Amino acid sequence: MCVSLSTSLLSLLLLLSLLLPTTASLPPTIGVTYTPSARPSPERVASALQSLKVAAVRLPDPDPEAVRAFSYSNISLLLTVPNSLVPSFAANRSAAALWLYTHVVPFYPRARISAISVGSDPLVAAPDLSPLLLPAIRNLHRSLSDLGIRKIAVSTTFSFISVMTTAFPPSAAEFQSPASEIIIRPFLDFLAETNSSFMIHLYPYNVYKLDHEIPIGFALFQEHPFNFRDDRVTGVRYRNLFDVMVDAVISAMAVAGHENIPVVVAETGWPSSGDGTDPDASKIYADMYIKGLMGHLRSGIGTPLRKEGVAETYIYELFDGDEKQGNETRRGNWGIMYPNMTKKFDIDFSAAPVGISGGGLVAMALGLVLAVGVLLWQ
Ligand SMILES: *[C@@H]1O[C@H](CO)[C@@H](O)[C@H](O)[C@H]1NC(C)=O
Ligand SMILES: *[C@@H]1O[C@H](CO)[C@@H](O)[C@H](O)[C@H]1NC(C)=O
Ligand SMILES: *[C@@H]1O[C@H](CO)[C@@H](O)[C@H](O)[C@H]1NC(C)=O
Ligand SMILES: *[C@@H]1O[C@H](CO)[C@@H](O)[C@H](O)[C@H]1NC(C)=O
Ligand SMILES: *[C@@H]1O[C@H](CO)[C@@H](O)[C@H](O)[C@H]1NC(C)=O
Repeated sequence: MCVSLSTSLLSLLLLLSLLLPTTASLPPTIGVTYTPSARPSPERVASALQSLKVAAVRLPDPDPEAVRAFSYSNISLLLTVPNSLVPSFAANRSAAALWLYTHVVPFYPRARISAISVGSDPLVAAPDLSPLLLPAIRNLHRSLSDLGIRKIAVSTTFSFISVMTTAFPPSAAEFQSPASEIIIRPFLDFLAETNSSFMIHLYPYNVYKLDHEIPIGFALFQEHPFNFRDDRVTGVRYRNLFDVMVDAVISAMAVAGHENIPVVVAETGWPSSGDGTDPDASKIYADMYIKGLMGHLRSGIGTPLRKEGVAETYIYELFDGDEKQGNETRRGNWGIMYPNMTKKFDIDFSAAPVGISGGGLVAMALGLVLAVGVLLWQ
């Protein structure tokens, strides 16, 4: 009996090891967008996020005090230069250097600044600045080099619905003209030259609101036999709208000649309440979206077109606010925490990646031992 138990166990464990995904990539960094305000103080927020094991924070309009507050945390930072500074950065490298002297130099590298976005969705928020965007980006990059800082990447952000021709099928997606030729192609060349990432505001909520044929479950990561869409050109099956949108970006980059640039989702989220006219802006849906997103990212499975998936994802946003950027829908409350630092949703930033969880494996093996034990007992 003892012998047969151990042989069955062994073969079962062998089977188990064959069934377990061994190719899942390292899951992407999951962060959050935080707009500092007087209360709670940036120090309090930084230490709370540190103890919640939040890996990364995007500061959309950083004042130096907020950067300082994160200096003693191990949280990586994505800083944003306000759109209003794009013209001066483009005109004069010393304006970029001045900004670095107040926002970066005093705190770096203690503050783990990983990247700086020059502007936030400037094509939509300030279209007249578009010819100045790349010169501003290059000047900031040169200023960093002048300071001997080579590990901070420089980029900018675009919003999905304003730069992409379509979401579906992803293989048919391109960047819209004329921005594609005038701005995005040379910008992608810059990203490739400098090892930086393409940053996008990616809201399945907005695409879902524009196309009512999309089932809500497809936007909310709900596994369901009918929640899929096939890309007939590539033959790829999609099970959630987030992957559709990421692969649309990857296809558009490939058309523009750059298929390998990492993708950072600089903003994504779901409103938990709206102006009262939108039943889809609900706490239940926001909860499903955030949990579904985190579970999907942690699986390490990536997207059909890119097995390592996106490099980083920043959830929009930490606290409810009423910002409006360009044409993006921003009515309602997008926050995932209350100002008293309690969580609005039961999400766990510290959870181990699903694909490589040792605890999960042990639990599974234990379950099997128990099951086999019961079987043999009878
Ligand atoms: C800091 O974060 C990095 C990556 O996010 C991790 O590898 C490292 O172990 C962390 N260090 C501490 C002291 O938590
Ligand atoms: C660039 O800015 C610096 C300092 O702000 C100023 O002294 C200089 O004249 C400016 N140069 C140009 C070409 O505007
Ligand atoms: C955004 O709004 C501007 C006017 O504020 C309008 O001209 C433009 O067409 C809008 N863009 C989109 C993508 O809706
Ligand atoms: C970009 O990354 C590659 C590989 O990691 C490295 O060889 C190259 O020097 C990097 N280039 C720059 C400009 O940092
Ligand atoms: C934090 O604020 C929320 C919303 O105002 C409230 O529901 C919750 O009870 C508060 N938690 C604590 C610990 O004060």
